[in-house]
Amino acid sequence: MHYSIAIDGPAGAGKSTIAKLVAGQLGFIYVDTGAMYRAIALYFLRKGIDGHDSASVEAECPHIQVTLDYDPEGRQMVLLNGEDVTPYIRTEEVGKMASVTSANPAVRAALLGLQRDLAVHSDVVMDGRDIGTHVLPDAFLKIFLTASVSVRARRRYDELSEKGISCDLAKIEKDIVLRDRQDMNREIAPLRQAEDAVLIDSSDLTIRQVADSVIAEYNKKKEQSSL
Ligand code: DC
Repeated sequence: MHYSIAIDGPAGAGKSTIAKLVAGQLGFIYVDTGAMYRAIALYFLRKGIDGHDSASVEAECPHIQVTLDYDPEGRQMVLLNGEDVTPYIRTEEVGKMASVTSANPAVRAALLGLQRDLAVHSDVVMDGRDIGTHVLPDAFLKIFLTASVSVRARRRYDELSEKGISCDLAKIEKDIVLRDRQDMNREIAPLRQAEDAVLIDSSDLTIRQVADSVIAEYNKKKEQSSL
């Protein structure tokens, strides 16, 4: 049997940072499902396809293949039809497109099998929006990681500023509110906390504190399951 930890939550809550840390500490594979949706979004952007045009989006899906690979340091690489697109998927433009096209059932269906398959073959920490509710409903541990809009906007602002990218805090905040609304209100697999998920609000916590809480929850579950 393999262990799976599902970490869901809104954009900018720190899911990927925490998931990576926890995976490294437990020796699990880290699966960033957002990166998969971003790779597909990049495909549509490159093709000049309108993400809201569901017929065109659906028609392209059979031509898109997303796979994951890991470099010698264990970092996840995302391949789009065989090309490593990891360096191109972290832009705001790709994030916005991913939020739109991930609402399309054909896009979600294209990734579901791959995501489930990864959890069948390895111990995983998988982060996303619908992992605990839909992709891995029987995950060993489910975490719903959130933070206030202002904290998430500030983190994003600092991250971009550090990279020397000029940005506007109010605009980032507005984009986050919009992304939340899109991710929570779509018909298929919307972002919501699973009933059996542990809620962690990271607004006033350090990265280490959040990672430690997740590990503590995991250890607690293991103890309970061995009783
Ligand atoms: O976590 P992220 O910002 O990299 O995700 C990009 C978009 O992909 C996000 O707006 C919603 C979508 N997504 C999703 O619908 N389901 C997931 N499991 C992960 C991401």
